Formats: sequence, structure tokens, C-alpha cells
Amino acid sequence: MRVENLMGNPQSVYVLDVIHETENVRTIVIDVKKRIRKFAPGQFLMVWIPGVDEIPMSISLWDPPRVGITVLPIGEGTEALVSLQKRDWIGIRGPFGSSFSLESRKALVVGGGVGVSPLKPLVYDLLRSGTEVTMLIAAKTKQELIFFGEFSRLLNERFVLRTSTEDGSEGFVGLATDAVKEILLENQFDTLYTCGPELMMYGLYDLVKESRMSFQASLERFMKCGCGICGTCSLDPIGSLVCVDGPVYSGKQLSKIIEFGKYHRDAVGKRRKF
Ligand SMILES: Cc1cc2nc3c(=O)[nH]c(=O)nc-3n(C[C@H](O)[C@H](O)[C@H](O)COP(=O)(O)OP(=O)(O)OC[C@H]3O[C@@H](n4cnc5c(N)ncnc54)[C@H](O)[C@@H]3O)c2cc1C
Ligand code: FES
Repeated sequence: MRVENLMGNPQSVYVLDVIHETENVRTIVIDVKKRIRKFAPGQFLMVWIPGVDEIPMSISLWDPPRVGITVLPIGEGTEALVSLQKRDWIGIRGPFGSSFSLESRKALVVGGGVGVSPLKPLVYDLLRSGTEVTMLIAAKTKQELIFFGEFSRLLNERFVLRTSTEDGSEGFVGLATDAVKEILLENQFDTLYTCGPELMMYGLYDLVKESRMSFQASLERFMKCGCGICGTCSLDPIGSLVCVDGPVYSGKQLSKIIEFGKYHRDAVGKRRKF
């Protein structure tokens, strides 16, 4: 393999647009020209903010040459990303990692918080391939629901949008897992796709693991290289690397990962409970 392919072909790109999704969350739209040709929903970029850090970000918008990442600020790197302005430049490598399988005829897609990001291109691809989709977006409050407007405009006979908020300001009142329990009382699906807080994804996995539904979840782990070199993102006990073998894992794969829903590791490899 050529080194630039392994490293994800590093390149500098300009910011074309900054979209305010919620009070804090921004979609940074970059111009990748013709340099990224292939992408599958679930894959991510390593994003270099000069002088700050390089961090993993899911692709939330795929309309080449316009490509978007949707960022929730939680630390130095993400704060720097949401502060970008049009014409600023950053570096990207990738896309990296595994993607969601599109083998579903009737899908339930559940996104919590900024976890909705990698699910947006998935929903578009599922609808294009004729799949019936029910999408649940979950957040603490209505103001924090990401892509609510865009998904509302998609509504048709093959796309149902549900929402849940912890404060009850929009849709189901309570946690996404409880909203899914209610949805499953009246509907059947062949696949549940999810991305969001790991405890939410673990709760969903627990809910459907004895059923016939396929399960696919996108995991987050601390990453340094993003391309299988450093071992930072290795999962116990099988040593699967989230940056190469993930971030999307099936229910069968997750059943072998003991840290799923229990703990992750910080920048120095120390275990942190969820
Ligand atoms: C494959 C992948 C896709 C991602 N996609 C998105 C996305 O679309 N939008 C988005 O906003 N964020 C996304 N993230 C998370 C994002 O990469 C982290 O929030 C970011 O790296 C934090 O960097 P920071 O410098 O802002 O914060 P830091 O100061 O580095 O960290 C702030 C806190 O978050 C913890 N933390 C940092 N990174 C991770 C991690 N990867 N897993 C668990 N805890 C972590 C730290 O331990 C610390 O407590 C993704 C992560 C992965 C692995
Ligand atoms: S981040 Fe280095 S191996 Fe995954």
C-alpha cells in the first residue's frame, strides 16, 4: 500500500461555510475539490487544526466537492473547529474506517446528541436504495435536536421522523431507549442503526440483542493516528482498532467487546467508566 493511502492522503482544505445547527453545534463545510472520491456513511476524517490538535470527525454531509463535519465543542480541538470562519483552512486525512451496511428494507435509525452526524448520510443512502426509514433524534431539549429542520423536510411515506427530549420540550418525554421501547411496541424493523452516547447505544443493544433485528452502532474512542499505527483505540479484549475495524460495529462484533457500554480509555490509556 502507498504511504499516502495508509496515512489518508493528507491535504489542506478551505472552509466554505459554517452552519449554525444549534446554539453550540456547527457544521463546517469544506471544499475537498476532486481529492476525496469515495465515502461510505459511518466513515470519518482526521481533522487537523493547525497549532491545536488533530481529531476524528464523522462526515455528516457528502455532496462533493462540499463535505461537512458537525461539531459539538467539548475541549480545545472542537472549540477551535466551531470557531472557524469562511476561508480559514484546516487539514484532513481520510475517510477512514468501516461503514454502515445498507442491507435493510425497514430500518430504525437512532441518533443521540451529535451522534446524529454520521447517521444523516446513512438515512439519505437508505432512502435512495428504497428502504423504509424511521428516524429517532434524541437530545436533552428541543433546542439541542440536531438536523430537526432538515429531517422534517424529508417526511414522506417512506420516512418517519420521531423525536425524544429529556425535558419533554419536543416529542417523547424521556430517554431515547424508552422512546425506542415505545416505537417497538407498534412497529417491526429488520435493522437498528445507532450513534450517540455509549450508554444509550448499549441500552439499545440490550433491548434488541435477543430479537431478530440486526444491530449496528458507531463507537467513539480516543484516537491519535486514526489509521491503525498507534494502537490507542484498541478495544478489550479482542484488540480491534476502532479507527480501522470500526467505528461501525455489528451486534455480533459488540458481543465480544467487554468494554462496550462499560469503559473507555483516556489520552494516556487510563480506563474511564461511562
Ligand atoms: C470516529 C469518531 C467520530 C467522531 N465524530 C464526531 C462528530 O461528528 N462530531 C463531534 O462533535 N465529535 C465527534 N467525535 C468526538 C471528537 O473526536 C472528540 O469530541 C474530540 O476529539 C475531542 O477533542 P477536544 O480537543 O475538543 O477535547 P479534549 O480536550 O481532547 O477532550 C475533552 C474530553 O472528552 C474526552 N474525549 C476526547 N475524545 C474522546 C473520544 N474519542 N472518545 C471518548 N472520549 C473522548 C476526553 O477524555 C476529555 O474528557 C468523534 C470521535 C470518533 C472517534
Ligand atoms: S488511533 Fe492509532 S491505531 Fe487507532
